[in-house]
Amino acid sequence: ATTLGAAAAQSGRYFGAAVAAGKLGDSTYSTILRREFNSITPENEMKWDATEPNRNSFNYTNGDRIAGQASSQGARLRGHALLWHQQQPGWAQSLSGSTLRSAMINHVTQVATHYRGQVYAWDVVNEAFADGSGGGRRDSNLQRTGNDWIEAAFRAARSADPNAKLCYNDYNTDGVNAKSTGIYNMVADFKNRGVPIDCVGFQSHLSNSVPGDYQANLARFANLGVDVQITELDISGSNQAAVYGNVTRACLAVSRCTGITVWGIRDSDSWRTGENPLLFDNSGNKKAAYTAVLDALNSA
Ligand code: G3I
Repeated sequence: ATTLGAAAAQSGRYFGAAVAAGKLGDSTYSTILRREFNSITPENEMKWDATEPNRNSFNYTNGDRIAGQASSQGARLRGHALLWHQQQPGWAQSLSGSTLRSAMINHVTQVATHYRGQVYAWDVVNEAFADGSGGGRRDSNLQRTGNDWIEAAFRAARSADPNAKLCYNDYNTDGVNAKSTGIYNMVADFKNRGVPIDCVGFQSHLSNSVPGDYQANLARFANLGVDVQITELDISGSNQAAVYGNVTRACLAVSRCTGITVWGIRDSDSWRTGENPLLFDNSGNKKAAYTAVLDALNSA
């Protein structure tokens, strides 16, 4: 196959990109988007600050533009992200306790209901675990509402959109380490107790290398009975193309690794300013990293 999406589809997978609604009018951008990608994640448009700028008053304008783009090109939609300690509206940042708990559950319910039937997978909870060697939860206003906030969010999302896959998503979880093991233990516990969870997202913001146990880490989560997805891939450094190939092959080697999303299209679209971590250059030309990914997908 000659495009990323078609090549991934040969093994039943998707290849996606994070998309900004404000760039859909850029013809270089939208031409690549339509040609190459069969999954779309809104880069910012479905986050809490965007969708509920005032309490219980929802704005889906830009989220709906992303959903409409996905629908019009026959791409899957990865919803991102229902609950996160960042990009909360100011009113939520100032709440705590049971008031925040009910506001966050209402947020999950309302947004997941609005997009019911359109979303392939939702990042229900994003980045809730701490960095470092502790393996525990990150301190946040959400966490301070009680350690059960994550399962409460997943249950609310399941009720609102029973057909969406529900994912936990995080970064620095790419190898077997304290943080990924903390998440592993949470997922195992959820599966044991029947808390609804279907997938784990590995953001994979990488710098010139990938952990040697990357594939093994994906596989141990898959063995818990969840799908795994590479959700925000970008890779800096001189070894970029080779590392992109390695990451792609690792996903292909794990049958429950259902797809890969890169976090932007051109280098100039990346949040990692100046690092050029994506598959297309600023003019929209395919880079060596693109060829490495396409070749890996085609040799699966
Ligand atoms: O929309 C406003 C605009 O009106 C204003 O003029 C401008 C001035 O700063 O800011 C604009 O908002 C920015 C927004 O991106 C849209 O461009 C925010 O300041 C900026 O903070 C925001 O950054 C996003 C970041 O998440 C927020 O934490 C990045 O685009 C986005 O790529 C990044 O994505 C995250 C994932 O959601 C979760 N994982 C990590 C990843 C990278 O940080």
